[in-house]
Amino acid sequence: VIDVAFTRAELRPADLTVVIDVLRATSTATTALYLGFAEVVLVESVEQAAGWRASGRLLAGERNCRRPAGFDFGNSPLELSQRSGGSLVLATTNGAPAIVAAAEQAATVVLACLLNLGAVVAALQAGAWATEGTVQIVCSGTDGAVALEDVYVAGRICAALTGERSDAAYVAESVARAHSSALEALAKSANAAVLRSTGMAPDIVYCAQESVIDLVPRVAAAPTGAAVVRAATGVGQRRPIHLVSAAFDHGDTVGWS
Ligand code: MLT
Repeated sequence: VIDVAFTRAELRPADLTVVIDVLRATSTATTALYLGFAEVVLVESVEQAAGWRASGRLLAGERNCRRPAGFDFGNSPLELSQRSGGSLVLATTNGAPAIVAAAEQAATVVLACLLNLGAVVAALQAGAWATEGTVQIVCSGTDGAVALEDVYVAGRICAALTGERSDAAYVAESVARAHSSALEALAKSANAAVLRSTGMAPDIVYCAQESVIDLVPRVAAAPTGAAVVRAATGVGQRRPIHLVSAAFDHGDTVGWS
């Protein structure tokens, strides 16, 4: 059965859980692995992230969408640059705690966003993490409320899969079908409004790109209060992508008011 949890509160034990925080935690984690970080360590709070600081580890995250004091990066995928190895410790308000909670309850946890939509769908279609049981797609939401952009991505994934689905999965598919493009769905969300108000409109455009990163982050270890994700292998080759980071700077405003 394919099921959708609209917020973290609906998380249930499952064989396979797919976590979405398209604006922006899962987009940032996916980008970090693509850019060459060996792993991303999701932690529940900014305070916890500080405890993970060590040689070879950089800290990224946000409070109210802004970079916390002493952190190397905010939660913007566009701030990251090429690396070879090392860890990115990522502390965000909603996405990171959802991933940590999922890792406590599911045998297999993978991260999805639009950037890796094709890779996630291909892996699920191919039964990469074979399961006879429930595939639970979890929308991180925002402060306990439903976030449109996460439901949109959940619907896109559901729509690409065959098999039995829950009513929640049908609802998510309807949300996806109601939008003519990913950017339309993302741009009208409340989270996008916050990003625009903090000068990060380019992140919305970046995160709305579909299937440009051919990897799926998968939880490889779950130490207390954290989830370590690495790029899952066996889900297709990487292909050249067009990161738009060079084209934007965070001072620009693009598109919407
Ligand atoms: C979150 O985890 O709440 C988000 O990723 C916030 C953000 O986009 O900065």
